[in-house]
Amino acid sequence: MSASTISAATHSAPHITGLTIEHFTGDAIGVGVAEPHLTWTYAPDVGSLDGRTVTVRALRGPLGIAPAEEIAHVPATSNAMLAWPFRPLGPLEQARISVRLDPQDANESRPTTLGQGIVAARACMDDPWSEERVIEQGLTDVGLRVADMIGPAWPEPWSDYRQPARIRTECAFAERPVAARLYCSAYGLVEAEINGRRVGEDILTPGWTSYQHRLQCRAWDVTDMLREGSNAMGFWLGDGWYRGRLGFQGGKPNVYGDRLGLFAQLVVFYADGRMDMVVSNSYDLKWKAKRSPIVISGLYEGECYDARLDEDGWSEPGFDDSDGWERVTELDFDPLTMQAPAFDPVRCSGENPVRSITKLGDGSYMVDVGQNCSQRFALDIPATQIGHEISIQHAEVLNPDGTLALEPLRRAEQRDVYISDGHAAHWEPRFTIHGFRYARVDGWPGELTADMLHCRVYGSVMRRTGWLETSDEMVNRLHDNIVWSMRSNFVSIPTDCPQRDERLGWTGDIAVFAPTAAFLFDTAAFLSNWLEDVEYETREFGTVPLYVPFIPLMANRTPECLAIWGDSAVLVPWALYQESGDTALLARQYPLARAWVEQVIGKLSDDGVWDYDPADGRGQLGDWLDPTAPAEDPTRAMTDRDLVATAYLINSLRLVARMADDLGKAEDSARYTTYAERSTKGYIARYVTPDGVMTSDTQCAYALSIAFGIFDGDNRLKAIAGDRLAELVREGGYHVGTGFAGTPHVLPALSETGHSDVAFKLFMSRENPSWLYQVAMGATTTWERWDSMLPDGSVNTVGNMTSFNHYSLGSVGAWMHRTIGGLNPVEPGWRRFEIAPVPGGGIDRAHITHDTPHGRIDVAWRLDGESIIVDATVPEGTLATVRVGDGEELLDPGNHSVRLPLHG
Ligand code: BGC
Repeated sequence: MSASTISAATHSAPHITGLTIEHFTGDAIGVGVAEPHLTWTYAPDVGSLDGRTVTVRALRGPLGIAPAEEIAHVPATSNAMLAWPFRPLGPLEQARISVRLDPQDANESRPTTLGQGIVAARACMDDPWSEERVIEQGLTDVGLRVADMIGPAWPEPWSDYRQPARIRTECAFAERPVAARLYCSAYGLVEAEINGRRVGEDILTPGWTSYQHRLQCRAWDVTDMLREGSNAMGFWLGDGWYRGRLGFQGGKPNVYGDRLGLFAQLVVFYADGRMDMVVSNSYDLKWKAKRSPIVISGLYEGECYDARLDEDGWSEPGFDDSDGWERVTELDFDPLTMQAPAFDPVRCSGENPVRSITKLGDGSYMVDVGQNCSQRFALDIPATQIGHEISIQHAEVLNPDGTLALEPLRRAEQRDVYISDGHAAHWEPRFTIHGFRYARVDGWPGELTADMLHCRVYGSVMRRTGWLETSDEMVNRLHDNIVWSMRSNFVSIPTDCPQRDERLGWTGDIAVFAPTAAFLFDTAAFLSNWLEDVEYETREFGTVPLYVPFIPLMANRTPECLAIWGDSAVLVPWALYQESGDTALLARQYPLARAWVEQVIGKLSDDGVWDYDPADGRGQLGDWLDPTAPAEDPTRAMTDRDLVATAYLINSLRLVARMADDLGKAEDSARYTTYAERSTKGYIARYVTPDGVMTSDTQCAYALSIAFGIFDGDNRLKAIAGDRLAELVREGGYHVGTGFAGTPHVLPALSETGHSDVAFKLFMSRENPSWLYQVAMGATTTWERWDSMLPDGSVNTVGNMTSFNHYSLGSVGAWMHRTIGGLNPVEPGWRRFEIAPVPGGGIDRAHITHDTPHGRIDVAWRLDGESIIVDATVPEGTLATVRVGDGEELLDPGNHSVRLPLHG
């Protein structure tokens, strides 16, 4: 017996490798889900699950009361999104969940085939419980939300240079609580402290939602922070999205209100089961406010902190609050708008080490952290003179002369200022984050060294689920850049960019990027949360706005009904459904998708084409920012805008019909299929000449027609379109010719019509415009424009719209995963999938990993002469087909190594 066989036979590693509740990344405290779905995965060597069962154990009960055990037995194969097998959770109720694969017949010692033919006799009696996960409902009953929204009573200017307040209170407990939760929300942003210590690690609480409809309330377990006797709580407030300046062209302050507010409710439980609460209010005179040491707070502008105004012990009991701490006042607040969240908060995910510090002639320093993204510095500041000012100005790139390129920031200053009280200090701004790689530090006392700077990266917490690595370093860097742009822009909502005076939830950007996002992270909770706002605002404004949350700005006073941006109502739910297979989620989002296509149906000409309607203002945005669009108007791309709009509509109609099918809504399915057919006919009649050439003879037009299956009923048309697309790419010198709308589809369309070689040549091009041009220019994120930086290294400032961190053109990521990696779900949720890697572009090996609801798929392929060798791990509960050239093999769960001829 070999050593590995012995260890396999005696090994008792858990069969269950991961347990997630709903789509939360870890434990979920104070959330709003009453009947969460459970998902767990099995170790790859678990063996067949046929006929086996799993025990689900819930230790549950209201907080502060000893939990009771509840047990459910379910089929082992129900591990992806199992419907909650217990009574719904109630407000303030906790459940600690674990699952266990039940032993098979006690006498049975089942031989299990492992990996490379190792046979192990495994007694399953010792199957352990999985790791425990906690889910706990927050203040989900409106009657429990008894705190008031309070704020300072002093008068404030209407805009700019308003000093936010800090609020404090004290309370006493006769005995130490056995459990305690702090529930907190704000008009603006809030960070809490208890007895001098910061509560939790979340930032930008409560996040951005369309506040007129809903305001989130986050919760933290603060049991260990409280003590018997006196306790104190302190709250920092910041302007944030609520009253800070928002939007482009100078933006607008006070979008939701001009008074900052705090909602705080501390709920404590004693050993005897009693519950007690300390709630923010203006009537008990125990809550007081004073102007904060944060003297200016802006998400875009940055933060100015005057340490001279800080007071030691302000969030500790016994603090003397006689100096300027004033009574608070109650603000108008509707507790019905308050929600317990269903997604994870914004937190620090790590640090970017300082790559270089250069002392400049004027005594300032230029700092490079090597990576552009959403981040900010925490500083270790030496002692210096009282009143000494240090400032840090952040930017994404440098001008050729080595100065910070500030023009692209427009009005978003991205400057943090620290005013010293003379003492050494550790300081990090609280209510701002910046999109940058470079920073200029002015006024640093003494020599600035790397150990004094901690560059902390921030974004919404999401579980990483996808990786791809190839033999080509430039391609790998492009992949990293896509990931970094995603992480930088998934901050509470999916934004366009993290640096300039915009940072809005542009719906079109996520519409085209959602499939790529779903390959990289579990986005279900994050995007579902945002889709809730899309739904609210669609109802309020009568159409899917161009950005959500919607704020009226300049020409965008009222939302217009426009393709691609509006199609987000279909494309984002569809991407989530394909990835998760979660029909409950789909059912929740279906009405939004349906409402969108219904609205557009009402606008179509008789032949089903979406013609320009003057009622829609400026008209379609089309293939936004294609490389030929003039600087002053990104909508003036090569491709007819109505063609683009109609193609997207046909795709949406077909997807809504498929959604309806999967939800058992046969009538809807038939209705949208019929409309899709009508529009397809109209589209072909209008935009395709009898010889197959399109009226817009462009990469985008052919790419959309092929990728959306518009020519699927006519092989001749499809072949002509594929050939013409390939020809256009060749004629164009293998330069990309598409904008936001066409970019995700140009490579898939080439691959699908037998032009893989052209697809790869285009993908591997390093010339402007192309994906790898950006990489060759040193990009560490994906850019908004193909040439946000010009070949001479200068910043392309035309049109006043240049960001170095937009994810839209990174939508090529889905093709990379599907084609280079070769992974494709064949049905929603990955129960069946395909491994069909396509070698090309000189890439001779790739390794792709994807965490599906059933467990991890791992595929590594390499070329070996005229063959390809594919090593694959297929998770339990799934079935894979490996397909290369004409070769095809079915793969069961487990580890496999397959050799297939490349051709024929
Ligand atoms: C944003 C885009 C957005 C576009 C639409 C831009 O300013 O940054 O990404 O989709 O406007 O008008």
